[in-house]
Amino acid sequence: MATAAVASGVERYPAALILLHWTMAALILAAIPIGWRMGDLEPGPLQDALYHLHRSIGVTVLALALVRVVVRRVAGAPPPHPSLAPWQRTLSVAVHHLLYLLFFVVPILGWAGTSAFGAPIVVWGLFELPPILPRNEPLSEILLGAHGLFASTLAGLVLLHVAGALYHALIRRDGVMQRMLFGRTG
Ligand code: HEM
Ligand code: HEM
Repeated sequence: MATAAVASGVERYPAALILLHWTMAALILAAIPIGWRMGDLEPGPLQDALYHLHRSIGVTVLALALVRVVVRRVAGAPPPHPSLAPWQRTLSVAVHHLLYLLFFVVPILGWAGTSAFGAPIVVWGLFELPPILPRNEPLSEILLGAHGLFASTLAGLVLLHVAGALYHALIRRDGVMQRMLFGRTG
């Protein structure tokens, strides 16, 4: 029975990975709608502030993604939940891998495109990130176009991922959700 699987003790993700998961989820869920809206605003202080906020959030995602890969290597992650059917296991592992890939591809394209555009990347008002490309406006259009495309792919995968998580949490109630929540072990 599905609920028996919870009682029998489900292996959780290490606390550091749980913390990174929810911090990065919150940052990404903020970066996407800001990215979609900021270009439509009138040029001015609000638009500038949103661009700075968007870039700062994005750079933080990139930094945390590096930390997350290292922590995952060192601390490890539990194997796929035993209640998953083979196709669910394949799908969830594939989505997780793609998400990890996009944690790097999306912000690096944003960084490269902004560098080629010639705009400064001031992170949380604290320091400026160096440009990784010389100024080249046509190239910046291509890179920021690709940035937007991959960001939309990320948004689509997040939707699929959250639908899967909610299906396990609310319908199957099989303990998959508990693996990514803090709490008592087992
Ligand atoms: C931007 C939003 C999100 C992103 C980018 C994201 C990304 C990820 C990634 C990459 C993993 C795999 C972890 C690893 O193997 O290290 C994961 C696992 C997980 N996520 Fe999310 N997540 C997001 C939002 C959410 C939300 C909103 C929920 C719940 C409603 C959720 C529930 C889970 C659960 C339960 C797992 C563990 C699955 C398992 O047992 O293997 N995630 N997430
Ligand atoms: C995971 C991190 C990030 C996410 C999820 C994200 C998401 C987005 C989204 C959804 C858009 C709107 C695209 C469109 O309307 O077609 C966007 C635009 C933009 N992003 Fe990001 N972004 C991230 C990181 C970054 C970083 C690190 C930078 C720069 C340092 C950056 C710079 C920009 C710029 C300049 C635009 C405007 C592009 C334009 O107006 O053509 N982003 N981003």
